[in-house]
Amino acid sequence: MGIRIKTKEQIEGIRKSCQLAAKTLKYLEQYVIEGNTTDFINQKAHEFIIENNAIPAPLNYNKFPKSICTSVNDVVCHGVPNNYILKSGDILNIDITTILNGYYGDTCRMYEVGEISRESKNLIETTKECLKIGIKECYPGNYFGNIGYEINKYAVKNNYSVVYEFCGHGVGVAFHEEPEVCHIAEKNSGKKMREGMIFTIEPMINEGKARTKIDRNDGWTARTIDGKLSAQFEHTILITSNGCELLTDLYGDF
Ligand code: MF3
Ligand code: CO
Ligand code: CO
Repeated sequence: MGIRIKTKEQIEGIRKSCQLAAKTLKYLEQYVIEGNTTDFINQKAHEFIIENNAIPAPLNYNKFPKSICTSVNDVVCHGVPNNYILKSGDILNIDITTILNGYYGDTCRMYEVGEISRESKNLIETTKECLKIGIKECYPGNYFGNIGYEINKYAVKNNYSVVYEFCGHGVGVAFHEEPEVCHIAEKNSGKKMREGMIFTIEPMINEGKARTKIDRNDGWTARTIDGKLSAQFEHTILITSNGCELLTDLYGDF
């Protein structure tokens, strides 16, 4: 089938959904505090998305039981919100995917609970920089492989490892479309980017080993194999005629 080139109408719809996903991340800031459970944050996110006439894409997606993903500390991704109570020093990723008028927007970022360690701050900063480095590779004619090539180079230079078991993906008309956007790749490998393509970059960066394991009870929550910390940022990106547009950037810090 190949990678979809989105029409003008689709791009407008996807942009609106992406803006709502980003707004949801911002809205949730007030609830990421010591003493709140991840389930409570899930509830607040669910209500906000519904009030804005959209649907949380994760809910019932391949039997995922909640509306958002909340990944704390050693959780790499797909954390299922539950009765875990946030405490000072925790680092939390919230991943939001909205469906608005049939169009998908997908974004995630890190939150700090109370006072976090210098090590945690470094990991979060480096992970954010990895996404920025990936975004620099987004322009027509460039190879998808160069996103992962540059991200991995930077992470390794900073003594971190890059998760290879989960990837970015085409998005917009469906949750997960072609291509797979890997965060480790060979230089000049894979397909070429073209104007009108929309996809995510969502590097997961680990303090220790890259490997992950899935929780046997909920079947979703992916943790680092060695219990060390992991961080992630994600944007949905449109390839334009001369570069790219970040569809999910509301903070303006990318
Ligand atoms: N939003 C995640 C991504 O970035 C996917 C979550 S799938 C779910 O691709 F089922 F866990 F919600
Ligand atoms: Co995604
Ligand atoms: Co996501």
